[in-house]
Amino acid sequence: MGLVLADDLLGRGLQRIQGEIDQAFDAILQVSEDGRQRLLMAMRHAAIGGGKRVRPLLLVTTAEMYGAARPAAVRAACAIEAIHVYSLVHDDLPCMDDDAMRHGRPTVHKAFDEATAVLAGDALHALAFELLTDPATSSDPFVRSELVRCLAIASGAGGMAGGQMMDIAAEGADFDVRAVTRLQQLKTGALLGAAVEMGAILARVPEEGRAHLRAYARDIGLAFQIADDLLDHEGNEAKAGKALRKDADKGKATFVSLMGPEKAREQARALSEQAIGHLQGHGREADLLRALARFVVEREN
Ligand code: IPE
Ligand code: IPE
Ligand code: MG
Ligand code: MG
Ligand code: MG
Repeated sequence: MGLVLADDLLGRGLQRIQGEIDQAFDAILQVSEDGRQRLLMAMRHAAIGGGKRVRPLLLVTTAEMYGAARPAAVRAACAIEAIHVYSLVHDDLPCMDDDAMRHGRPTVHKAFDEATAVLAGDALHALAFELLTDPATSSDPFVRSELVRCLAIASGAGGMAGGQMMDIAAEGADFDVRAVTRLQQLKTGALLGAAVEMGAILARVPEEGRAHLRAYARDIGLAFQIADDLLDHEGNEAKAGKALRKDADKGKATFVSLMGPEKAREQARALSEQAIGHLQGHGREADLLRALARFVVEREN
Protein backbone atom coordinates (compact mmCIF):
# COMPACT_ATOMS: atom_id res chain seq x y z
CA MET A 1 0.00 0.00 0.00
CA GLY A 2 2.91 2.35 -0.82
CA LEU A 3 0.63 4.92 -2.40
CA VAL A 4 -1.54 4.99 0.66
CA LEU A 5 1.35 5.62 2.99
CA ALA A 6 2.66 8.34 0.67
CA ASP A 7 -0.42 10.34 1.54
CA ASP A 8 -0.35 10.85 5.28
CA LEU A 9 -3.89 12.12 5.61
CA LEU A 10 -5.31 9.15 3.73
CA GLY A 11 -2.94 6.63 5.32
CA ARG A 12 -3.95 7.78 8.79
CA GLY A 13 -7.63 7.92 7.83
CA LEU A 14 -7.62 4.37 6.52
CA GLN A 15 -5.67 3.03 9.48
CA ARG A 16 -8.01 4.67 11.94
CA ILE A 17 -11.22 3.43 10.33
CA GLN A 18 -9.77 -0.07 9.84
CA GLY A 19 -9.08 -0.26 13.60
CA GLU A 20 -12.53 1.08 14.49
CA ILE A 21 -14.40 -1.31 12.20
CA ASP A 22 -12.40 -4.34 13.34
CA GLN A 23 -13.03 -3.42 16.96
CA ALA A 24 -16.76 -2.89 16.40
CA PHE A 25 -17.21 -6.22 14.60
CA ASP A 26 -15.15 -7.94 17.28
CA ALA A 27 -17.55 -6.61 19.93
CA ILE A 28 -20.73 -7.35 17.92
CA LEU A 29 -19.84 -10.83 16.69
CA GLN A 30 -19.47 -12.70 19.97
CA VAL A 31 -19.13 -16.46 19.53
CA SER A 32 -21.67 -18.40 21.58
CA GLU A 33 -21.19 -22.06 22.49
CA ASP A 34 -24.74 -23.13 21.62
CA GLY A 35 -24.49 -24.68 18.18
CA ARG A 36 -24.17 -21.37 16.33
CA GLN A 37 -20.46 -20.94 16.92
CA ARG A 38 -19.57 -22.06 13.40
CA LEU A 39 -21.80 -19.34 11.93
CA LEU A 40 -20.35 -16.63 14.18
CA MET A 41 -16.80 -17.75 13.48
CA ALA A 42 -17.48 -17.61 9.72
CA MET A 43 -18.97 -14.10 10.11
CA ARG A 44 -15.86 -13.02 12.02
CA HIS A 45 -13.63 -14.55 9.35
CA ALA A 46 -15.45 -12.48 6.71
CA ALA A 47 -15.82 -9.25 8.64
CA ILE A 48 -12.68 -8.77 10.73
CA GLY A 49 -9.34 -7.79 9.19
CA GLY A 50 -8.27 -7.55 5.59
CA GLY A 51 -10.63 -5.13 3.87
CA LYS A 52 -9.58 -1.62 2.93
CA ARG A 53 -12.78 -0.22 4.50
CA VAL A 54 -13.30 2.31 1.71
CA ARG A 55 -17.09 2.45 2.23
CA PRO A 56 -16.78 3.07 6.00
CA LEU A 57 -14.19 5.79 5.39
CA LEU A 58 -16.48 7.48 2.84
CA LEU A 59 -19.43 7.36 5.23
CA VAL A 60 -17.60 8.56 8.33
CA THR A 61 -15.70 11.29 6.48
CA THR A 62 -18.88 12.68 4.91
CA ALA A 63 -20.75 12.53 8.24
CA GLU A 64 -17.95 14.28 10.12
CA MET A 65 -17.59 16.89 7.38
CA TYR A 66 -21.14 17.98 8.24
CA GLY A 67 -20.71 17.74 12.00
CA ALA A 68 -22.15 14.30 12.87
CA ALA A 69 -20.67 12.44 15.83
CA ARG A 70 -18.06 9.84 14.93
CA PRO A 71 -19.25 6.90 17.11
CA ALA A 72 -22.70 6.94 15.48
CA ALA A 73 -21.10 7.21 12.04
CA VAL A 74 -18.86 4.22 12.81
CA ARG A 75 -21.96 2.15 13.63
CA ALA A 76 -23.59 3.09 10.32
CA ALA A 77 -20.25 2.37 8.65
CA CYS A 78 -20.29 -1.14 10.17
CA ALA A 79 -23.73 -1.64 8.66
CA ILE A 80 -22.61 -0.82 5.13
CA GLU A 81 -19.44 -2.86 5.57
CA ALA A 82 -21.56 -5.82 6.73
CA ILE A 83 -23.43 -5.63 3.41
CA HIS A 84 -20.15 -5.32 1.51
CA VAL A 85 -18.49 -8.32 3.19
CA TYR A 86 -21.65 -10.41 2.77
CA SER A 87 -21.58 -9.56 -0.94
CA LEU A 88 -17.96 -10.75 -1.11
CA VAL A 89 -18.73 -14.02 0.73
CA HIS A 90 -21.48 -14.81 -1.77
CA ASP A 91 -19.48 -13.46 -4.75
CA ASP A 92 -16.68 -15.95 -3.95
CA LEU A 93 -18.99 -19.01 -3.77
CA PRO A 94 -18.48 -21.80 -6.33
CA CYS A 95 -21.84 -20.93 -7.94
CA MET A 96 -20.61 -17.37 -8.54
CA ASP A 97 -16.91 -16.53 -9.02
CA ASP A 98 -15.61 -19.71 -7.38
CA ASP A 99 -12.68 -18.07 -5.61
CA ALA A 100 -10.41 -19.60 -3.00
CA MET A 101 -8.61 -16.48 -1.71
CA ARG A 102 -9.87 -13.20 -0.30
CA HIS A 103 -7.88 -10.65 1.72
CA GLY A 104 -4.89 -12.94 1.45
CA ARG A 105 -6.59 -15.85 3.20
CA PRO A 106 -9.03 -18.64 2.31
CA THR A 107 -12.52 -17.53 1.35
CA VAL A 108 -15.30 -18.35 3.83
CA HIS A 109 -16.55 -21.45 1.98
CA LYS A 110 -12.97 -22.77 1.85
CA ALA A 111 -12.22 -22.07 5.51
CA PHE A 112 -15.65 -23.43 6.54
CA ASP A 113 -18.07 -24.89 3.96
CA GLU A 114 -20.60 -23.65 1.42
CA ALA A 115 -23.69 -23.87 3.63
CA THR A 116 -21.91 -21.93 6.37
CA ALA A 117 -20.79 -19.30 3.84
CA VAL A 118 -24.36 -18.83 2.58
CA LEU A 119 -25.63 -18.45 6.16
CA ALA A 120 -22.80 -16.12 7.16
CA GLY A 121 -23.74 -13.89 4.21
CA ASP A 122 -27.42 -14.02 5.17
CA ALA A 123 -26.67 -13.13 8.78
CA LEU A 124 -24.31 -10.28 7.86
CA HIS A 125 -27.03 -8.89 5.59
CA ALA A 126 -29.52 -8.93 8.46
CA LEU A 127 -26.95 -7.51 10.89
CA ALA A 128 -26.62 -4.39 8.73
CA PHE A 129 -30.27 -3.47 9.28
CA GLU A 130 -30.19 -4.46 12.94
CA LEU A 131 -27.36 -1.95 13.42
CA LEU A 132 -29.14 0.82 11.54
CA THR A 133 -32.37 0.44 13.51
CA ASP A 134 -30.54 0.62 16.85
CA PRO A 135 -31.12 3.97 18.62
CA ALA A 136 -27.37 4.07 19.30
CA THR A 137 -26.89 4.79 15.58
CA SER A 138 -29.28 7.74 15.71
CA SER A 139 -31.78 8.82 18.36
CA ASP A 140 -34.02 10.11 15.54
CA PRO A 141 -36.34 7.41 14.12
CA PHE A 142 -36.67 9.36 10.85
CA VAL A 143 -32.91 9.34 10.37
CA ARG A 144 -32.83 5.60 11.15
CA SER A 145 -35.55 4.84 8.65
CA GLU A 146 -33.87 6.95 5.95
CA LEU A 147 -30.60 5.10 6.56
CA VAL A 148 -32.37 1.74 6.24
CA ARG A 149 -34.13 2.77 3.04
CA CYS A 150 -30.92 4.07 1.48
CA LEU A 151 -28.94 0.91 2.27
CA ALA A 152 -31.79 -1.41 1.26
CA ILE A 153 -32.14 0.23 -2.15
CA ALA A 154 -28.36 0.14 -2.74
CA SER A 155 -28.16 -3.56 -1.78
CA GLY A 156 -31.11 -5.03 -3.67
CA ALA A 157 -32.26 -5.63 -7.23
CA GLY A 158 -31.87 -1.93 -8.04
CA GLY A 159 -28.34 -1.92 -6.62
CA MET A 160 -25.62 -4.43 -5.75
CA ALA A 161 -27.59 -7.68 -6.24
CA GLY A 162 -28.98 -6.42 -9.54
CA GLY A 163 -25.47 -5.49 -10.65
CA GLN A 164 -24.20 -8.96 -9.71
CA MET A 165 -26.92 -10.46 -11.91
CA MET A 166 -25.87 -8.23 -14.82
CA ASP A 167 -22.24 -9.18 -14.16
CA ILE A 168 -23.11 -12.85 -14.67
CA ALA A 169 -25.01 -11.93 -17.84
CA ALA A 170 -21.89 -10.06 -19.04
CA GLU A 171 -19.98 -13.34 -19.43
CA GLY A 172 -19.58 -13.94 -23.14
CA ALA A 173 -22.02 -11.13 -23.94
CA ASP A 174 -21.43 -8.26 -26.35
CA PHE A 175 -22.15 -5.51 -23.83
CA ASP A 176 -21.23 -2.00 -24.99
CA VAL A 177 -19.79 0.79 -22.83
CA ARG A 178 -23.29 1.93 -21.89
CA ALA A 179 -24.30 -1.51 -20.64
CA VAL A 180 -21.03 -2.02 -18.76
CA THR A 181 -21.39 1.42 -17.16
CA ARG A 182 -24.88 0.52 -15.95
CA LEU A 183 -23.64 -2.84 -14.65
CA GLN A 184 -20.76 -1.23 -12.72
CA GLN A 185 -22.98 1.52 -11.34
CA LEU A 186 -25.23 -1.12 -9.80
CA LYS A 187 -22.65 -3.73 -8.81
CA THR A 188 -20.15 -1.36 -7.18
CA GLY A 189 -21.35 2.22 -7.53
CA ALA A 190 -24.58 1.77 -5.60
CA LEU A 191 -22.93 0.83 -2.30
CA LEU A 192 -20.18 3.44 -2.64
CA GLY A 193 -22.90 6.01 -3.34
CA ALA A 194 -24.88 4.81 -0.33
CA ALA A 195 -21.81 5.27 1.87
CA VAL A 196 -21.65 8.98 1.01
CA GLU A 197 -25.43 9.39 1.16
CA MET A 198 -25.68 7.69 4.56
CA GLY A 199 -23.00 10.03 5.92
CA ALA A 200 -25.11 12.95 4.72
CA ILE A 201 -28.30 11.44 6.17
CA LEU A 202 -26.68 10.98 9.58
CA ALA A 203 -25.55 14.60 9.53
CA ARG A 204 -29.06 15.68 8.43
CA VAL A 205 -27.87 17.29 5.21
CA PRO A 206 -31.11 18.10 3.36
CA GLU A 207 -31.81 16.42 -0.02
CA GLU A 208 -31.07 19.59 -1.96
CA GLY A 209 -27.63 19.85 -0.38
CA ARG A 210 -26.57 16.37 -1.49
CA ALA A 211 -26.44 16.69 -5.30
CA HIS A 212 -22.68 17.38 -5.45
CA LEU A 213 -22.01 14.49 -3.06
CA ARG A 214 -24.01 12.15 -5.29
CA ALA A 215 -22.07 13.36 -8.33
CA TYR A 216 -18.78 12.78 -6.47
CA ALA A 217 -19.88 9.27 -5.45
CA ARG A 218 -21.06 8.38 -8.96
CA ASP A 219 -17.67 9.28 -10.42
CA ILE A 220 -15.58 7.48 -7.82
CA GLY A 221 -17.91 4.46 -7.99
CA LEU A 222 -17.20 4.02 -11.66
CA ALA A 223 -13.50 4.81 -11.24
CA PHE A 224 -13.30 2.25 -8.42
CA GLN A 225 -14.68 -0.58 -10.55
CA ILE A 226 -12.51 0.32 -13.55
CA ALA A 227 -9.54 0.08 -11.15
CA ASP A 228 -10.80 -3.34 -9.96
CA ASP A 229 -10.98 -4.52 -13.58
CA LEU A 230 -7.48 -3.11 -14.26
CA LEU A 231 -6.20 -4.94 -11.18
CA ASP A 232 -7.78 -8.12 -12.49
CA HIS A 233 -6.04 -7.53 -15.81
CA GLU A 234 -2.56 -6.51 -14.66
CA GLY A 235 -2.38 -6.45 -10.85
CA ASN A 236 -0.24 -8.42 -8.44
CA GLU A 237 -2.07 -11.34 -6.77
CA ALA A 238 0.02 -11.26 -3.60
CA LYS A 239 -0.72 -7.54 -3.13
CA ALA A 240 -4.38 -7.88 -4.11
CA GLY A 241 -4.88 -10.87 -1.78
CA LYS A 242 -7.23 -12.51 -4.29
CA ALA A 243 -7.05 -14.45 -7.55
CA LEU A 244 -6.69 -12.22 -10.62
CA ARG A 245 -6.88 -12.71 -14.43
CA LYS A 246 -10.37 -14.09 -14.13
CA ASP A 247 -12.42 -11.63 -16.18
CA ALA A 248 -10.67 -12.35 -19.50
CA ASP A 249 -10.82 -16.13 -18.86
CA LYS A 250 -14.57 -15.84 -18.47
CA GLY A 251 -14.92 -13.58 -21.50
CA LYS A 252 -16.45 -10.91 -19.26
CA ALA A 253 -17.28 -7.53 -20.75
CA THR A 254 -15.48 -4.85 -18.68
CA PHE A 255 -14.05 -1.40 -19.42
CA VAL A 256 -10.68 -3.08 -19.90
CA SER A 257 -12.04 -5.57 -22.46
CA LEU A 258 -13.95 -2.81 -24.26
CA MET A 259 -11.38 -0.02 -24.43
CA GLY A 260 -8.05 -1.65 -23.53
CA PRO A 261 -6.05 -1.03 -20.35
CA GLU A 262 -4.52 2.35 -21.31
CA LYS A 263 -7.82 3.99 -22.21
CA ALA A 264 -9.48 2.41 -19.18
CA ARG A 265 -6.82 3.85 -16.86
CA GLU A 266 -7.18 7.25 -18.53
CA GLN A 267 -10.92 7.06 -18.03
CA ALA A 268 -10.55 6.10 -14.35
CA ARG A 269 -8.15 9.01 -13.73
CA ALA A 270 -10.44 11.46 -15.54
CA LEU A 271 -13.38 10.28 -13.40
CA SER A 272 -11.30 10.71 -10.25
CA GLU A 273 -10.43 14.31 -11.21
CA GLN A 274 -14.06 14.95 -12.11
CA ALA A 275 -15.09 13.61 -8.69
CA ILE A 276 -12.68 16.02 -7.00
CA GLY A 277 -14.17 18.85 -9.08
CA HIS A 278 -17.57 18.25 -7.48
CA LEU A 279 -16.05 19.11 -4.08
CA GLN A 280 -14.93 22.59 -5.12
CA GLY A 281 -17.44 24.24 -2.81
CA HIS A 282 -15.69 22.65 0.19
CA GLY A 283 -12.47 23.67 1.90
CA ARG A 284 -9.82 21.57 3.65
CA GLU A 285 -12.50 19.53 5.43
CA ALA A 286 -13.02 17.64 2.15
CA ASP A 287 -9.31 16.84 1.65
CA LEU A 288 -9.79 13.25 2.77
CA LEU A 289 -12.57 12.74 0.19
CA ARG A 290 -10.24 14.24 -2.44
CA ALA A 291 -7.42 11.90 -1.40
CA LEU A 292 -9.82 8.95 -1.49
CA ALA A 293 -10.83 9.82 -5.05
CA ARG A 294 -7.17 9.58 -6.08
CA PHE A 295 -6.57 6.42 -4.05
CA VAL A 296 -9.41 4.42 -5.59
CA VAL A 297 -7.77 4.52 -9.02
CA GLU A 298 -4.12 4.10 -7.96
CA ARG A 299 -4.69 1.33 -5.39
CA GLU A 300 -2.89 -2.00 -5.61
CA ASN A 301 -5.43 -4.04 -3.65
C1 IPE B 1 -14.02 -5.48 -4.04
O1 IPE B 1 -14.30 -4.36 -3.24
C2 IPE B 1 -15.22 -5.88 -4.81
C3 IPE B 1 -15.78 -4.82 -5.63
C4 IPE B 1 -16.93 -4.29 -5.36
C5 IPE B 1 -15.04 -4.36 -6.81
P1 IPE B 1 -13.17 -3.73 -2.33
O2 IPE B 1 -11.92 -3.57 -3.14
O3 IPE B 1 -13.68 -2.53 -1.64
O4 IPE B 1 -12.94 -4.87 -1.25
P2 IPE B 1 -12.10 -4.94 0.09
O5 IPE B 1 -13.09 -5.22 1.14
O6 IPE B 1 -11.35 -3.67 0.32
O7 IPE B 1 -11.17 -6.09 -0.13
C1 IPE C 1 -17.68 -8.18 -6.80
O1 IPE C 1 -17.10 -7.89 -8.01
C2 IPE C 1 -18.71 -7.16 -6.54
C3 IPE C 1 -19.56 -7.48 -5.39
C4 IPE C 1 -19.29 -8.37 -4.48
C5 IPE C 1 -20.78 -6.74 -5.28
P1 IPE C 1 -15.86 -8.77 -8.44
O2 IPE C 1 -16.24 -10.20 -8.55
O3 IPE C 1 -15.18 -8.14 -9.60
O4 IPE C 1 -14.96 -8.57 -7.14
P2 IPE C 1 -13.62 -9.35 -6.83
O5 IPE C 1 -12.70 -9.09 -7.99
O6 IPE C 1 -14.01 -10.78 -6.65
O7 IPE C 1 -13.14 -8.70 -5.56
MG1 MG D 1 -17.97 -11.18 -9.18
MG1 MG E 1 -15.35 -11.89 -7.60
MG1 MG F 1 -13.02 -8.07 -9.85
